[in-house]
Amino acid sequence: MERTYIMVKPDGVQRKVVGDIVGRFESKGYQLVGMKMVQPDRSLLEDHYDSLKEKPFFPKLMDYMSSGPVIAMVWSGKDVVATGRKMLGATNPLDSAPGTIRGDYAIDVGRNIIHGSDSVESAEREIGLWFTDDELMSWQDHSHDWVYE
Ligand code: GTP
Ligand code: MG
Repeated sequence: MERTYIMVKPDGVQRKVVGDIVGRFESKGYQLVGMKMVQPDRSLLEDHYDSLKEKPFFPKLMDYMSSGPVIAMVWSGKDVVATGRKMLGATNPLDSAPGTIRGDYAIDVGRNIIHGSDSVESAEREIGLWFTDDELMSWQDHSHDWVYE
C-alpha cells in the first residue's frame, strides 16, 4: 500500500488539534503505521525542507519548525499521498477550503499546523528521514474489507 509522511507542526501540538487530525485520517479509513513525538533538530529540518533552502522564508521556517515538539506519523492506504494533501488543504490557510485541516484551524502560511508529503517519492524520502524501519509497524487492519471494495 502507498504510504505518506504526515507531521503535526509545533503550532498544531500547542493548539491541541493532534487528536482531531489523527481522528480525521482514522475516520477516512487510512491505517496508522508509525507515530512518535519528536523535538526536531535543525539538521533534520534542513534535510526535510532541503528543496526550500533558497527561499527567503527558509530561516523563519526553520525557527518555526524547531520551536517545539512535532507529531511524526506514517499513514498507509490507497492514494494516501494525494488524498492526504487534499485533507490538509492549500499551503496558505486563507486559500484552504473549509473542511480541510488548514481551512478549519489556521490563518497564516507560517503557522499552517500540518505537513504532508507532496509525492510518493517525497513520502518515501521523508519516511526514511524521520523513522527507522523498526519504528514502522506492520499490522492487520481488520476494517480493511469494510473500507475497500
Ligand atoms: P508542507 O506540507 O509543510 O511541506 O507544505 P506545502 O507542501 O503545502 O508547502 P511547501 O512545501 O511549499 O512549503 C513548506 C512550508 O513552508 C509551508 O507549509 C509553510 O509552513 C512554509 N511556507 C511556504 N511558503 C511560505 C511563505 O511564503 N512564507 C512563509 N512564512 N512560510 C512559507
Ligand atoms: Mg511541501
